[in-house]
Amino acid sequence: MKLVAIVGSLRKDSYNRGLAETIKERFVQNIELEILEIGQLPHYNQDDEFNPSELVLEFKRKVKEADGVIIITPEFNWSIPGVLKNALDWLSRVDKVLIGKPVMTGGATMGIAGTLRAQLQIREILTALQVKLLPPVGNEILISQAHTKFDEETGLLKEEATLKFVDDVVERFVAFIKE
Ligand SMILES: Cc1cc2nc3c(=O)[nH]c(=O)nc-3n(C[C@H](O)[C@H](O)[C@H](O)COP(=O)(O)O)c2cc1C
Repeated sequence: MKLVAIVGSLRKDSYNRGLAETIKERFVQNIELEILEIGQLPHYNQDDEFNPSELVLEFKRKVKEADGVIIITPEFNWSIPGVLKNALDWLSRVDKVLIGKPVMTGGATMGIAGTLRAQLQIREILTALQVKLLPPVGNEILISQAHTKFDEETGLLKEEATLKFVDDVVERFVAFIKE
């Protein structure tokens, strides 16, 4: 199964990137997970949507060809980062590659609310984009106090209980895609 991950943080030592890398590593036997780079995508401009840059075309092509999408986002000012919204806006137009696409979400923060506000907002956006969203009940990957749960050396998630939960959610997502 081929999945792509879109990470809302561009930071080198990002916990959210670390979460995506953790999923990639733990499911390497059954999932081919590519973490897509969104930092160099141009700002979405409707004037360019029928003739976008090669980067945009490549990004859309990879999402279109994927069996599912994992979106992992930090919370910025009670919302999702602009860079992630920009990427979703590109995906939402012209060939609309997210329509009907299985999607799951998650996020990590050093704060205590585990990106909850960002997660609620991204669900609204994904509803507009007509994705097939993994039902959030029982599947909310909300990682709080990330600095205590990730390995500083490897950048990967290390806390056992959270790892188990993430594994379970990804397994449910794989089953959801196969349904
Ligand atoms: C511009 C900005 C706004 C932020 N706003 C929030 C916020 O609303 N809620 C929150 O929990 N953390 C907030 N944070 C802290 C981030 O959760 C923290 O920096 C986190 O590590 C970012 O994710 P990353 O490690 O993947 O880069 C904010 C950080 C920045 C830089």
